[in-house]
Amino acid sequence: MRFILRLLSKRLIVNSKLSTGLSSKRFSFFKDIAYKVGTQFLVDKKFPVQVGLELSRACNFDCPFCSRLDAPSGNHMDLSVAKKVIDEAAKHGPTVFTSHMWGEPLLNPKWPEFYRYIKGKSRFNGISLTTNGYLLTEEVSRKLIDLNVDEVVISLHTFNESEYHVRIGKNIDIGIIFSNIFKLLELKKCLKSNIKVVVKVFERDINIFENEKCIEFIKQGAYVENDFYDNSGGSTNEWSEVKNNKEERYPCFHPWLTCTVNFKGEVSICCVDNKMDLKIGDVTRDSFENIWSSPKVIIARKEHLGETEFDFCKICEGCDSWKNKPNFFFKSQYKIHNNYK
Ligand SMILES: C[S@@+](CC[C@H](N)C(=O)[O-])C[C@H]1O[C@@H](n2cnc3c(N)ncnc32)[C@H](O)[C@@H]1O
Ligand code: SF4
Repeated sequence: MRFILRLLSKRLIVNSKLSTGLSSKRFSFFKDIAYKVGTQFLVDKKFPVQVGLELSRACNFDCPFCSRLDAPSGNHMDLSVAKKVIDEAAKHGPTVFTSHMWGEPLLNPKWPEFYRYIKGKSRFNGISLTTNGYLLTEEVSRKLIDLNVDEVVISLHTFNESEYHVRIGKNIDIGIIFSNIFKLLELKKCLKSNIKVVVKVFERDINIFENEKCIEFIKQGAYVENDFYDNSGGSTNEWSEVKNNKEERYPCFHPWLTCTVNFKGEVSICCVDNKMDLKIGDVTRDSFENIWSSPKVIIARKEHLGETEFDFCKICEGCDSWKNKPNFFFKSQYKIHNNYK
């Protein structure tokens, strides 16, 4: 039963049209209820259904909205760190592995070995790669398909060339990213691959579905998601597009469904925690299972449910990322936090 539920959560995370890393979507009333009930069955308190592995802290871009600029610098994750987590996950059933925290995963020269190991441990494991697309060459795309990667999310940000330079903080030709995406889509078709290709933009001023590049991406088999910048735990307030209206605070799903291992092996309850304020353990010292059931995780859940004030989850108080994500709790399950900013 647990295996089936974990397999279902994989579908929800990487194969469903409803989700890109469980990101925000508007639900209808009945879908919302079904989503809330269904998602709660997918919570696995022994081992998270999704684990983020920060394959690299290094990056080839300098995006001004990205909390990486404010994070301690670092390099690539060692395969041995990831193996420890992947080996443990195999005892619990299918697990979805994402590949980033604050960096460009394709910069880690050993990325194919990470993915080979994940799928080698269990073909039911899921892999989701989020990339800025610059290194997504034809060779890389072929490898991703060959390694059965489930999902590639390309952060394109905008269709506008001059605006693109502002968003990524570099003078890089957006044409390279467009042609990388089209090549991946062409290979997906030619090789009859099930790889899901998501193009993620953050466009406010245009109707993206009237944009000719967007129409072409969709025609070629991509999903195009229009996302919102958030303040990443309060560290990029000036970029946040999340409406700051006073509304009821509902729990963020992170402490129930997922956590992230940084390039060093430290584990945080939250993927936007750029200074590891919400550190719950270290996989180089402890088992992942112990970390996921540690008192800190239990405290984080209580704080998010409003049973106690934010104390361990101090950065969550000023964070608005949670608003960008669906609420899978019914009101009767949580108290209202009156003091969040
Ligand atoms: C931190 S990046 C790492 C992966 C890769 N370097 C990339 O850019 O896709 C992961 C995702 O977070 C998004 N991101 C970064 N800062 C953000 C913010 N303030 N609000 C919303 N999304 C953000 C990026 O656009 C990207 O899609
Ligand atoms: S969003 Fe991605 S590409 Fe941009 S700086 Fe952050 S990690 Fe690098």
